[in-house]
Amino acid sequence: MLAGQRRFLQHETAMAILIDEKKRVLVQGITGREGQARTRLMRDYGTNVVAGVTPGKGGQVVLGVPVFNTPQEAVNSLGQVDISVVFVPAAGVKDAAISALDAGIKLAVLVPDRVPVWDAMEIAAAAKANGAMFLGPNTLGALSPGKGVVGMIGGRAESARQWFKPGVPKGVGVISRSGGMASSTGYYLGQAGVRISTIVHIGGDAVIGIRLPDAALMFEADPFTEAIVIFGEIGSSQEEELAQLIVDRKITKPVIAYIGGKAAREGTRFSHAGAIIEGGRGTHAGKVKALREAGAIVVDAFGELPNAVVQILKKMKGQSVMSEADKNAVWNTAITRVEPNRVAVRGYDIAELMGRVSFGAAVHLILRGELPSPPIARLMEAILVSSIDHGATPPSALAARTVASTGASLSASVAAGIMSINRHHGGAIEDCARQLKAIADRAARESISMDEAATRTLTAMREAGERMAGFGHRLHTKDPRTARLFELAREAGVDGVHMQATRAVERAFADAKKSVPINVDGAIGAILADLGMNPAAFNGIFMIARTPGLIAHVIEEQTRERPMRRIDPVNHGYDGPAPRSLTTNEHK
Ligand SMILES: CC(C)(COP(=O)(O)OP(=O)(O)OC[C@H]1O[C@@H](n2cnc3c(N)ncnc32)[C@H](O)[C@@H]1OP(=O)(O)O)[C@@H](O)C(=O)NCCC(=O)NCCS
Repeated sequence: MLAGQRRFLQHETAMAILIDEKKRVLVQGITGREGQARTRLMRDYGTNVVAGVTPGKGGQVVLGVPVFNTPQEAVNSLGQVDISVVFVPAAGVKDAAISALDAGIKLAVLVPDRVPVWDAMEIAAAAKANGAMFLGPNTLGALSPGKGVVGMIGGRAESARQWFKPGVPKGVGVISRSGGMASSTGYYLGQAGVRISTIVHIGGDAVIGIRLPDAALMFEADPFTEAIVIFGEIGSSQEEELAQLIVDRKITKPVIAYIGGKAAREGTRFSHAGAIIEGGRGTHAGKVKALREAGAIVVDAFGELPNAVVQILKKMKGQSVMSEADKNAVWNTAITRVEPNRVAVRGYDIAELMGRVSFGAAVHLILRGELPSPPIARLMEAILVSSIDHGATPPSALAARTVASTGASLSASVAAGIMSINRHHGGAIEDCARQLKAIADRAARESISMDEAATRTLTAMREAGERMAGFGHRLHTKDPRTARLFELAREAGVDGVHMQATRAVERAFADAKKSVPINVDGAIGAILADLGMNPAAFNGIFMIARTPGLIAHVIEEQTRERPMRRIDPVNHGYDGPAPRSLTTNEHK
């Protein structure tokens, strides 16, 4: 295994803190004004919003998201939820948050302001009892550039994409005690070419869940965060506690801070409930001194912060500063970086990949963004081999040969073949995956077994005159490719809900005394879906696999046959090599 492959397998989910594109998010108050508007914005930015909750409105659908009466109902129906973001007016926040935490959701993000302190304390007790965390109240939430946002940081997705630079390969973590300044800090860092792993607004109230030192410890533990940028303010002892963590070597990454509220006098509340100097504690001077003595950089003016961060990153040869070319870019691609004498696919040097990873692994890398483990690489390779050709009768081979017989070029002839790969040719891979997912979702939603969900779905499909894609074959009763793919999938430990649903469908057909076994398209669809591949790429994977076959047909047509011949679609023989095996010497 390559070192990078190992790294990926160990840290697949550690590329940001609190929120990323994989976290399953619930929106409480989704039917309300703000809940609805923010759901749209969060989804536009890439957040995986799976459900909403408003008591009494269960069964509705908002922006395609199913609404439930309680978080527990949502979890029962859809499975684990990672984060709940609460857009419920202050008086209802305590009940909303506690119901989310009691449903096993490990992070509640509490956006509303004016939540009573006693309520926040009760939420804290519930979080502790459930081994969970909460951000806020009175928080704009958290945003991991390029991955996802929970709450209200960044506004429109398009602006957020322009302002905050994704922390790839690495970024700095931003912790702010002010909502507005959380976005501003992210924006000015982006202008200075600094990449960000996550921006966290911890909230301005006196009692909050994740405090500044907690967030700093999360960034310390995140291997993709190189330095920690703080927008602090007067009041509370959070900055002093952070200084102590640095002294105790519990925070070892560079800390660069600005502390607001220099001009505030004792007893004046500075903007937030938590920003008050009482009894000489929490002063601006005290915080600056504690942090500087601990070794942190504290700038005197906010405008100096971005440059101070750049200087530190340059000194440590950090990867969070953008090159001039990246800074000046007007659009970005995340696939391949090409520089003089270096080509890197999804970050991997192409020369390092060559001869070390299979083509199947490289296809996984380019489409999924990550290298697969060796057994999954073998499975990908097998999928590509399984579809390399299926004789001269499939529409793609006939189309390619027909166009080739007119004297068209290789590219035009192969393109004609590719153009015939559509919904009814190769498309069963994607259709089958979607239908299997619908069966698995139904089993979860209606709390029934997968077998029952398959039977009900097939009955409904039969009544509607629809067919289950990926099952049955016009020629093979026992497709030789399917058994082998399932064997390799078993070896790779791929057995998610799609694979389980295929078995349930086969049993349901058998119960109905029908012999409709899964075919190669169905098997590939189930496997690719369980691997987490985007269904939009499934037909593409079939095209990748079939292209060598099409090239062979075009060349054979143009070298062996007369131009403009009338091609019989069925009646053709085979005069290639006699059957042979890898286990004999003949292929050597
Ligand atoms: C939370 C807040 C955004 C809600 O405002 P809003 O969207 O205008 O309020 P709405 O009344 O339209 O919507 C609230 C929804 O929550 C629902 N709700 C109430 N209790 C609920 C609960 N326990 N669970 C889920 N939903 C609940 C309501 O039924 C309502 O939905 P409906 O309109 O379909 O009935 C607002 O009260 C607020 O606090 N704003 C300030 C936020 C802020 O600035 N934060 C920090 C910045 S630094």
